[in-house]
Amino acid sequence: MAVEKERRNFLGAALGLFTVAGGVGALAAMKYTWDPLPSVKAAGFTTIDLSTMPENVLVTEKWRGKPIFVLKHSKNMKSDPRDVKIGDDVYFVAIGLCTHLGCIPAYFPDTKTFDCACHGGQYDANGKVLKTPPPRPLDIPPFKIEGKKLVLGEEGPEYKKMLADGLTQKV
Ligand code: FES
Repeated sequence: MAVEKERRNFLGAALGLFTVAGGVGALAAMKYTWDPLPSVKAAGFTTIDLSTMPENVLVTEKWRGKPIFVLKHSKNMKSDPRDVKIGDDVYFVAIGLCTHLGCIPAYFPDTKTFDCACHGGQYDANGKVLKTPPPRPLDIPPFKIEGKKLVLGEEGPEYKKMLADGLTQKV
């Protein structure tokens, strides 16, 4: 009798495990179906929500293997033609690689500068060169504004105007 009960308990546990495994498999299959197609990922679009970003705090995202700097300007920061404006908010968006030899500059909120430790280059909060050797401002990646979101990898009208005005180069 005890053997029969043990056998039933074992079968019940085995059936339970089988059901859980099946459920996990079904969820994995659903996730695979819902995930973007590989081609969309390969196209390299990255969407960043700007609505909750704090002022004067550098946020670094990744796009096509490169660091992307997004800095929400405080109200007292100098305006610039390279500003990305969304309503009353102003952002600076750039590829976070020094235009000298490609090191990643660090942002210092007190001085509001990007300093490159490799050879002493320095940029202001709009990515413009304050101290050489960097030969040009930090490059701006292709972007598009969608509501309060920034889509990296798409060329929106604001980015196209910056290119046409010679404020950045195509990357
Ligand atoms: S790589 Fe930045 S100053 Fe040389």
